[in-house]
Amino acid sequence: MTVGLHQSVAETRSVASRVILYPGAAGGLGAGTTLSLLEAGDRVIAVDKDGKKMDSLDAAAAARSLDGLTILQVDLGELEGLRRALDTVAQETGGIDVVINNAAIYPRRPAKDFSIEDHQAVQRVNVDAAIVCVQVALPHMRAQHWGLIVNVASITAYGGWPDLSPYVQSKGALTGLARAWAREFGPFGITVNAISPGAFPTDAEKIHPDPETYARYIVEHQAIKRRGRPADIAGVLRFFISDQAGFIAGRTLNVDGGWVMQ
Ligand SMILES: NC(=O)c1ccc[n+]([C@@H]2O[C@H](COP(=O)([O-])OP(=O)(O)OC[C@H]3O[C@@H](n4cnc5c(N)ncnc54)[C@H](O)[C@@H]3O)[C@@H](O)[C@H]2O)c1
Repeated sequence: MTVGLHQSVAETRSVASRVILYPGAAGGLGAGTTLSLLEAGDRVIAVDKDGKKMDSLDAAAAARSLDGLTILQVDLGELEGLRRALDTVAQETGGIDVVINNAAIYPRRPAKDFSIEDHQAVQRVNVDAAIVCVQVALPHMRAQHWGLIVNVASITAYGGWPDLSPYVQSKGALTGLARAWAREFGPFGITVNAISPGAFPTDAEKIHPDPETYARYIVEHQAIKRRGRPADIAGVLRFFISDQAGFIAGRTLNVDGGWVMQ
């Protein structure tokens, strides 16, 4: 299918009609982005296993009188259950237009202490569930010759962080998949990119034994001398799923305050 068709379909689509599948939506970076997508008129299917975080996301959306939030409380590691739940939701919504693969687990210990099973468990949530999300969304995206996919990776995949080997492995996989999918799905009007957050003060950071020293270390290493905010991620995600990014594919953009400048 031609780029011209992609553009004409994208231009005639109402932003308000987009259905966004967002695993990990209730997390530290996901919640703020979800609210900003709802504010922009998108419909968001928030997939997360944490009931408390989902409740507070739901309450935050209700407090702002925002419509369009669908809560799907499932464990992404249960791949068959996930596929069934997403198939049902895709049917109910008429198909998924945008996938933001954002969920992750990040166990921390020396590489020698991770079993193969530990590695596989991390890949199942961080990578395999992302593959299922894309596979469920793909038929509708292909049929309408329009779709957007963003994988949320991490600068740890380039910077060489210790004690996070299954997580770093998973983020390398998501970066590679963004390129492979961009190449394979581009002819069908589907753009795929990735973003790599730097260090943001969310639960993901609580794995560090000394958070205060770590926070100082981060700012010292960034070109921009402040901590990252969820809004920094929301802004870049909104850009990648907008028409303005319609000619970018297979890229990974670091959103890290100028830390890892690769
Ligand atoms: N915060 C950072 O500093 C940072 C840095 C680099 C990359 N990232 C990436 O950004 C993304 C969001 O990170 P965050 O900081 O919001 O982390 P977070 O832990 O706050 O959010 C992750 C969300 O995923 C959900 N989740 C985890 N396992 C799940 C499962 N099996 N089933 C369903 N839901 C599950 C959690 O409940 C949580 O709400 C992740 O992919 C992370 O790797 C974050």
